[in-house]
Amino acid sequence: MLNIAIDGPAGAGKSTVAKAVAKDLGIIYLDTGAMYRATAYYALQQGVSVTDEDSVKKLLDTMSMDIVYENGEQQIYVNGLNTTPYLREHYMSKAASDISALPPVRYKMVELQRTFAKTHDVVLDGRDIGTFVLPDANCKFFLTATPEERATRRFKELKEKGQQVDYDKLLADIKQRDYNDSHREVAPLKQADDADFVDTTEMSIDVVIAHIKEVVHIKTKPNAQTDKRSEEKSVSERTLKRIKKYYLPQKRFGVYRFMRILLRPVQAIFWPTKIVNRQNGNIDGRAIYICNHYSKVDSLIPCFALFKKEAHILGKYELFKVPIAGWFLHKMGAIPVRRGEADISAVKSVLGVLKEDKKLMLFPEGTRNKSGSQEMAELKTGTARFAIKTKSPVVPMLYYSAPRLFRRNWLYIGEPFTLDEFYSARTPEQMHMATEVVREKMDETRRLCNEYVEGLKKGKKK
Ligand code: DC
Repeated sequence: MLNIAIDGPAGAGKSTVAKAVAKDLGIIYLDTGAMYRATAYYALQQGVSVTDEDSVKKLLDTMSMDIVYENGEQQIYVNGLNTTPYLREHYMSKAASDISALPPVRYKMVELQRTFAKTHDVVLDGRDIGTFVLPDANCKFFLTATPEERATRRFKELKEKGQQVDYDKLLADIKQRDYNDSHREVAPLKQADDADFVDTTEMSIDVVIAHIKEVVHIKTKPNAQTDKRSEEKSVSERTLKRIKKYYLPQKRFGVYRFMRILLRPVQAIFWPTKIVNRQNGNIDGRAIYICNHYSKVDSLIPCFALFKKEAHILGKYELFKVPIAGWFLHKMGAIPVRRGEADISAVKSVLGVLKEDKKLMLFPEGTRNKSGSQEMAELKTGTARFAIKTKSPVVPMLYYSAPRLFRRNWLYIGEPFTLDEFYSARTPEQMHMATEVVREKMDETRRLCNEYVEGLKKGKKK
């Protein structure tokens, strides 16, 4: 079964996101908060205090809960009565928070939720889904926002419904609920270690939804799990161990220097390339060099031209599986990266390299341009993330066209730039904005590169 867990405090946007993701995947959405609300409603109806554990425990023995879907909307029946219309009243929030702290209530709800998840493909939102209810969920998210932002959202929502509310009271209630939910004894509100953390404070709900959908699609695409398993199987233990070593950035560059002396003249004969504005690539200390990518040779040309002694370059993981080629790439300074997933080892290696004031080259599109056109694909956010985290300058580089054998090629080095206006950025939305800036710089470099090369060609014709 497909289970997606979305946890976080009240008002972080979980239910809106969970509904949108469930709709997108054509599966069910289970609002687990409503289950605690329904339990609290039933207790209040029966005149039982929501903080009296013994009485609530007795009451639970007489309570049956059914979750059904009518016209696509979740309805919670308690002992045959549909409680759904009464659950969103403001006073019910506090009552649900109180009753949810009682261990017998949690055990009962968690059992129901686990049974539900075993029999349905479902997106669940709550507080403890990723940590306690379904620790093996296929995807986990932790959504949050500042209490002030969440109170403001709730304030607007109630105002639109024509309800009179006091912002300060809402804020105080939210803070109290956060405290209750994260300080209870059993399964408190907490981020699972393997959950994707999303701070929605400065994000529009559409951007949050787009981000979550993107992660879900990557993690749940039909062959994502089987691909991984069969790959692990097809790669022997020894190969896996070896690749693990390749993640440790190369320290000695004897092989690189030797190969550079040997191969540079060969490259100059087969792929003669003019480096335009070479001085732009001369940077003291750390820097990230980014380039469009057409073929295997186009990584060697800028390396040989710009890095006499050493450099690191990100290369796709699959290349490192081939025994001798993997060793050779490692010796040449390459670092493996698994594409389409968060490769924590690669991220650590890259940050380590840059923090040691070294240079790194990568292809921001994350893949080769097989069409051979000048148009670049959408850029991955990696460049921006690394440049921001390590405060590194970025050097944009562009091939005029795919390197051609025995013909004149051009590699244009643009003006280095920094992303300093984003140095305090943390959210995915800000990373996307920073990536837009990288894109603009690449576009500008493209314009200058074309102007230069086409100017040359025209000059020749005259
Ligand atoms: O998400 P909500 O506001 O409808 O949830 C109501 C209360 O239920 C909330 O204060 C915390 C509690 N809850 C919980 O403890 N565990 C969950 N999985 C969902 C909600």
